[in-house]
Order: sequence, then C-alpha cells, then structure tokens
Amino acid sequence: MSATCVIGLQWGDEAKGKLVDLLTEHHDIVVRYQGGANAGHTVVAGDQTYKLSLIPSGILNPRVVSVVTGGVVLNPPSILGEIDQLVSRGVQVTSNLMLSDRAHVIFPWHISEDRAMDGSVSGGEAIGTTQRGIGPCYRDKVGRAHAIRLGDFYRPDFRDKIVHIAAAKNRMLPVWAGPDAAPLDGDAIYNEYRVYGERLKPFVADTTAYLLNAVESGKRLLFEGAQGALLDIDHGTFPYVTSSNSSGVGVSSGSGVPARWITKIIGVVKAYNTRVGGGPFPTEQNNEIGQHIRDKGNEYGTVTRRPRRCGWFDVVAARYTSRLSGVDVLAIMLMDVLSELPTIQVCTAYEIDGKRVTDFPSQLEDLRRAKPVYESLPGWQTEITGVRKYADLPPNARAYLARLSELVGRPVDVVSVGPDRSQTIWAKNG
Ligand code: GDP
Ligand code: IMO
Ligand code: MG
Repeated sequence: MSATCVIGLQWGDEAKGKLVDLLTEHHDIVVRYQGGANAGHTVVAGDQTYKLSLIPSGILNPRVVSVVTGGVVLNPPSILGEIDQLVSRGVQVTSNLMLSDRAHVIFPWHISEDRAMDGSVSGGEAIGTTQRGIGPCYRDKVGRAHAIRLGDFYRPDFRDKIVHIAAAKNRMLPVWAGPDAAPLDGDAIYNEYRVYGERLKPFVADTTAYLLNAVESGKRLLFEGAQGALLDIDHGTFPYVTSSNSSGVGVSSGSGVPARWITKIIGVVKAYNTRVGGGPFPTEQNNEIGQHIRDKGNEYGTVTRRPRRCGWFDVVAARYTSRLSGVDVLAIMLMDVLSELPTIQVCTAYEIDGKRVTDFPSQLEDLRRAKPVYESLPGWQTEITGVRKYADLPPNARAYLARLSELVGRPVDVVSVGPDRSQTIWAKNG
C-alpha cells in the first residue's frame, strides 16, 4: 500500500501539475480532492502542452484512474469543456475518470456572487479571486440550505431544488450586486444543467467507497493538491486565501481517505516565490528583479492570465507550510529561471516591530509589517536547462539548493530545470 501527496507550499503555481504527471506512472489512481476550476496545472510533454483545471493531471496516462472527490467544487460546463478538449487531442477520457456524487456544484449564481463580493473585503484590498465562483460555492456547502451536489442531479427533486434556490438567490443578489443584477431564471438553469448532468452521468460515482476499497486492496494512490498551503482557508494568509484546505491537512477531509494510508508527502516549491491576487507578500520584488523573474518564468496566471507577483524565496513561509503539511521531501521547481542573476536573496527571518521572527505570523497585519531579513547567495550564471544529474549542476546552484534544504529542514528529492518532462533531476540518480 502507498499513497503519495503532492502539495504546493507557496501561493500556488509551484508546478504541481508537472510533478504529478511525472509521478503518475508509479501509481494506479490520481486524486484531486479540493479546489475547483480556480486551479490551472500545466503539463508539457514534448511538443504538447496540456492545461488542466478540474481533471487530475494523471488523465494523460490511460492506465491510471483519475478521481475527483467530494472535496472539489465542480463546474459542469468547465469540466465538460476540459473533457472535450482532451478527447479532441486524443486523450482517453472514459472509465478512467470518476467524479464524486458528493462534489458540490458551481451554479451561475456563484459566479455572480464571486464577482460582486470580491472587492468588498473589510479592509479594502480585494482578494483578487479567479472569479470562478469557488468561495460562494463552498459558502453554500457549509451553509447547507442552498447547496446542490452532483448526486442531486439524478434525483426526482432536482428541478425543484434549482427553482427554490434560484428564487432565494434572486432575493439576495440585488443586495450584493446592486439593483441591476440580472435575475436568475430557475427553469432555464435547470434545463441547461440537466443536459450537463446527462453528459456527466457515466463518470459519477461514490468515490469515497472506491478509494477506501482501493487503498485497502493495495492500490497506489497519488493525491494532487491544488493551490498552495499559504492559500489554505484555515492555515493560510486569511482572508487572502482560497476557500478550501489547500495545505496537506486537506487531503483526508477532501478525499475521505484517512491520513494513516499516506506514506509520502512531497512539498513543491519554486526556487523563488510568486503570488496571484491580493494580500501580503513580504519578499515581493515589485521592481526589475521581479520583472526579470516574471519574464524568465513566464509568470502569468494559467487560469486568468494575470501577471503573477514575483519575489525571493521565503524560508519562513516554506518552513511553516512544510511542517504544517507533514512534508517528507522537497521538489524545487523552476530553478532555471534564476540562472542569469548574479546574486540571489533568501528570506531567512522577518523583522516585525524591531523583533526577529521565524514563526510565520498568524495575523495578517503582522505579516503586512514583516520586513524580510535576507541572506545573499552567489548566482550560478550558467544555463542549466540541459542538466539531468544533480552532480552536473553548477556548484553555486547546488549550494543554493543545499541551503534551501537546510533552512526549510527537508531533503530535496527533485529539481526541475525546465517545463518539459525530461527537464527533471532526481536526487536519487546522482
Ligand atoms: P501548478 O498550478 O502548480 O501545476 O503550476 P502551473 O502549471 O500553474 O505553473 C507552473 C508553470 O511553470 C507552468 O507553465 C509549467 O509549464 C512551468 N514549469 C514547470 N516546471 C518548470 C521549470 O522547471 N522551469 C520553467 N522555466 N518552467 C517550468
Ligand atoms: P493552482 O492549483 C495560484 C488565488 C487567487 C486569489 C485567491 C482566491 O494552479 O496552483 P479563488 O478563486 O480561489 O477564490 O481565489 O487564490 N488562487 C490561486 N493562485 N494558483 C492557483 O491554483 C490558485 N487558485 C486560487 O488568485 O488570490
Ligand atoms: Mg497553476
């Protein structure tokens, strides 16, 4: 039995998709267990680039089963669009995809609410959500009264549920979005979503039962995290977070697979930090260094194409999130992006009101005041995209990796030097 988890330790986009794709061949089942179509995971295989959002990156391997569990919020037109895209490119999407009947479904009202509410966080700065309806759908899940799960699509009262909720939302939406908010037509929504439901039906199952049977019979599971641990609703930089448990703590709640089955947790980081959307980012380089990283790393959001904010590697944050997520080993991605820089800074502590702090602050206002304390390391200023063995990396690149490993407190298992599958260094291969 084995279950491996791939967890982003920063603010998302750590190249989890690339790693999951690489690890898929050693597993039987790949599982997405939280988040929704806010995620954008890129897999580059030769001349083909795949952008996956709701479907696990494991889908590219027809031998494995890809499972979307009840912890995910599902947008039917998004997932159908993704399935159609994959099929049109020759990827098999048949009984190798399973969707949980417990998954909560995003409806048009969630997207309207997301648009209307994003800017109204107390304190002023917008969260800068992906506007995919994620927060409002999770809110309705927790609130229970206005929630619809995928399994409800196949019950006789599905139409009544939609009409009832649309009527309630029509009373609330003008309050949030203003009197001009377009009213929702419950019957029209029912007719549209009924058709989505028919198309999705072959994939719908009780994935909790399936996964429990799978682990108990020795199948190898790979859990694909979405977002990153700093965006975790409970443990991240609240309220500038997403609405699910995106750190390692979310694997069991999102999938229904108890933590006792998990044998390895891989924490994925970039060799630097990025963030999309609002909220504090102590090591942000809103200057030519940030722009250099953005250009070299093509740091533009996969889902929204927004420029990602870029900055130096933050050890305070990564040490916190690797401990929080129970990380065994690190995967350090996008190393090649730093190759031209003569000096690289690493944030080893914060200074808050004159005090040196190494525990990640729980309060946003403290994080806003945190001044990074940097350690400077010499760059390697050598092209590394063709390197395939750890020993062949330039000495300064190895020294940088060793220092990150030492500071975060975890060994490095994987180093990525380019987007392609082949541009990967496995520490075990020397
Ligand atoms: P995810 O959301 O964590 O799966 O990450 P994204 O796919 O949103 O963002 C990572 C981006 O970096 C993608 O465009 C990848 O193709 C790309 N990428 C992955 N690894 C590397 C690498 O080692 N070097 C470079 N330059 N790009 C990489
Ligand atoms: P992957 O899986 C980076 C960010 C948004 C916003 C905040 C809340 O590709 O790493 P939401 O739409 O979830 O309510 O937005 O979270 N965000 C991400 N940032 N990568 C992601 O996913 C993200 N998913 C959400 O930019 O700041
Ligand atoms: Mg992404």
